[in-house]
Amino acid sequence: MELKNITIESNNGNFNYALFPALEGVSAELQKISSSHSVFYIVDSKVYKLYKPIFDDLVNRDDLFVFTATEENKSFDSLFTLYDFLLNRNTDRGSYIVVVGGGITGDTGSFAASTFMRGTKLVLVPTTLLAMVDSSIGGKTGVNYKKYKNFIGSFYEPEAVISSVKFLETLDPNDLLSGLGEVLKYALLDAEFFEYCSEKLTGSLEIGQEDLLTLIGRSARIKNDVVTQDRLDMKARHALNLGHTFGHAIESVSHFSIKHGIGVIAGLRGAAFLAHRTGVMTEAVFTKVIEFLCRYKTDESIKRLDSEMIYTAMQGDKKRLNGEVKFVLISQPGSLLIDVSGKKGDVIASIDFMKSTI
Ligand SMILES: NC(=O)c1ccc[n+]([C@@H]2O[C@H](COP(=O)([O-])OP(=O)(O)OC[C@H]3O[C@@H](n4cnc5c(N)ncnc54)[C@H](O)[C@@H]3O)[C@@H](O)[C@H]2O)c1
Repeated sequence: MELKNITIESNNGNFNYALFPALEGVSAELQKISSSHSVFYIVDSKVYKLYKPIFDDLVNRDDLFVFTATEENKSFDSLFTLYDFLLNRNTDRGSYIVVVGGGITGDTGSFAASTFMRGTKLVLVPTTLLAMVDSSIGGKTGVNYKKYKNFIGSFYEPEAVISSVKFLETLDPNDLLSGLGEVLKYALLDAEFFEYCSEKLTGSLEIGQEDLLTLIGRSARIKNDVVTQDRLDMKARHALNLGHTFGHAIESVSHFSIKHGIGVIAGLRGAAFLAHRTGVMTEAVFTKVIEFLCRYKTDESIKRLDSEMIYTAMQGDKKRLNGEVKFVLISQPGSLLIDVSGKKGDVIASIDFMKSTI
């Protein structure tokens, strides 16, 4: 099978996003780094258990930190434990920290790498679909603080992102669905990709390897194109929040029992309704977009969440600007309106519509 090797520009020069069909491609790239640098690994505990022989070949067990990926562990306590792990091994600024796992391990490990001695070299090996298409691109790192999600963090680019679609074979279907939520979002941000996804994403989670490679490669490129216009998330990057004002509020009201990307799928439906109700999106486009978004199930519990509570949770979102809740809306796939204020009546009606689609 053809190797997908995507080169992505970063403000440290160019780093490489290498996406391999087979795990051997990942091992070979990591072996190259180990042969010329001191390397320490931070690895998701499930990934370590499932893929242990790969790590046994790459690194001494003592230089590998096994991390349990929960939102509770995305914390300062974990950072302090990681700093001690690195300190005890004489890690310095020339050392490489390879972070292997989903978005939780990635965000926490990257923040540790970005702050330890003011920054060590970082390599990301995303192993969930969400991490492959979203969290490993754009340089956002961070941990949760008190009840605030991703509240303390930094912008820090990895030297390289290396992965294989093979990792996805062991992923829980709900985590695959969560990653697909972000892919559906990219489809709405890019007209051509929407046409591709409309054909390939039929509602099944059984997606062939070649299609997965293309879906991830194109999603990663769309995200990178957006973030290179606006590294510090001042405006253009807000496009990536499509569906997220609703999605984050759903996550928060469910006390994070609903996965991020699954909340985003529901949130994209809410955002489409809001665009239609406020005259931004025609009936014909709305029908097409909703049919596409409803091919994938979300989480039954969303329909039991209280609409007023979801609305209130939106007020606490980081996307709030000068006290107003802001939305990203599309008039059609690829045509965006960024930071649109929503009137309460319209937003509540959109939440109710979203719940009616679950
Ligand atoms: N930095 C960013 O730009 C950014 C963007 C979006 C989301 N995020 C963050 O990402 C996090 C969510 O990431 P996620 O969805 O990857 O969740 P996650 O890291 O919790 O991974 C999901 C689950 O899959 C397991 N897992 C990982 N790889 C596996 C594999 N190959 N096989 C079997 N199991 C595997 C993990 O142990 C975990 O139980 C959230 O904390 C969110 O805030 C960050």
